[in-house]
Amino acid sequence: MAITAYLAFEPADEDIARHVSAELERHGWTVTRSGPDLRTSEQTPALIKTIGEAGIVVVLASPAGNDSVWLQREVAAALNNGRPIIVAITAPIGAESWLSATLDTASAIDMNRGSQAEALAQIADRARTATGRGRVIAMLNIKGGVGKTVLAANLFAAAHLADKRSISFIDLDPQHNLTQYFLSPGERHRIRDRNHTIYNVLNPRGDASLSRSDFGAISVPLNRARRGGDKQPNFELVAGDERLFEFTLDTRADRDKAEAFTRFRALVSALRARSDAVVIDSNPCATFLTRLAITCADHIVAPVRPEKYSLTGLNMLEHVVREVRGRSLQPNEFSVLLNGVNDRTRSGETGDADALTRSEISAAPFFGAALLADEVPYSAVLRSVPTERIAANPINVTAMMRVGGRPAKEALARGAAAILRRAGTP
Ligand SMILES: Nc1ncnc2c1ncn2[C@@H]1O[C@H](COP(=O)(O)OP(=O)(O)OP(=O)(O)O)[C@@H](O)[C@H]1O
Ligand SMILES: [Mg+2]
Repeated sequence: MAITAYLAFEPADEDIARHVSAELERHGWTVTRSGPDLRTSEQTPALIKTIGEAGIVVVLASPAGNDSVWLQREVAAALNNGRPIIVAITAPIGAESWLSATLDTASAIDMNRGSQAEALAQIADRARTATGRGRVIAMLNIKGGVGKTVLAANLFAAAHLADKRSISFIDLDPQHNLTQYFLSPGERHRIRDRNHTIYNVLNPRGDASLSRSDFGAISVPLNRARRGGDKQPNFELVAGDERLFEFTLDTRADRDKAEAFTRFRALVSALRARSDAVVIDSNPCATFLTRLAITCADHIVAPVRPEKYSLTGLNMLEHVVREVRGRSLQPNEFSVLLNGVNDRTRSGETGDADALTRSEISAAPFFGAALLADEVPYSAVLRSVPTERIAANPINVTAMMRVGGRPAKEALARGAAAILRRAGTP
């Protein structure tokens, strides 16, 4: 678990910065502070790496900070790497400032009157909750049809049932297969009519825009098994919407996209506060939506099928993630999951295709260390997406896991546990 903090500030806020870092260190954090060592063009890659791998980033916001190019770079690195950001305002900044436009200053900690004990305690407290919360896991592969959607549903259903994990799904694919997997057409229409889909979250204005205060209340519970009134851990979905395609084309202005980004982050924070994992299913290409998933993810799960071009999709994925985050990545930020092994519908060459893909990925420099030991077998249950008839019954994940063979279920539960462990889920 990362217990490193990055403190971004300007020399004008040096005094407060000293108090903040002393307070964080007192609570066990290792603090790196803005300073001339990392704020040079030669050191920029090291600066981005330090921020990108920090458990939290604390930003001291002030007019001096607002005018600083370096603070702006530090905030961008934190955002692109999905780091939890704690904002403390040390001197009033205008509503028009880029700091107010970029960061959630409404919930910022007030340090206008200096570094009072109360404000310092608040920073330490938020730092603790930020790392104690659920992890964001993105199902990603530039290659399509590898099992992102079906594994998102089934891996985390297994984690929910076998280990009582609370899970919140976000369907970020315009094709919204995950939503179709779980919900009947009637239910999907009702959710859409209520303006409760991911499209309403991303849309910053107009009739199809949802108020931020409602973000925590739009997910649909998927586990409707009633067991003697016991409180069940969450298993819920923020429904997808085909209108998301607007965000994959150039039809949306940059300003809309910037707002969509902050709104998406707000949704993710609301969900991660109550779930062990927020699982994002994404589209199989590199678009603005992929960027949203990458920037918010603590961990990326890339399913691969045993086939000839699997490494190409992975290499492209690593490239895209590196580009978005602006730094080279660690293998422990990724899990590669071999999906569909022992496929007896493949004539003759079953073992060969599995073994070839496995050895090709193990030998690859970056992905070798990310390849999970657990693999998901080819299984008729995973192949056959539930028919509309099954989904039309309020889907009950208990029933979902009752079907299918034992080996597949055990592999899914083991795979999910390995992913949650690698993602650093508390
Ligand atoms: N282990 C498996 N055994 C059998 N069939 C599988 C398995 N994994 C996936 N499939 C099947 O492969 C097809 C593609 O899976 P899925 O839709 O989950 O892929 P995807 O990566 O989400 O695709 P897209 O890129 O279009 O979003 C589906 O029909 C699914 O049922
Ligand atoms: Mg899919």
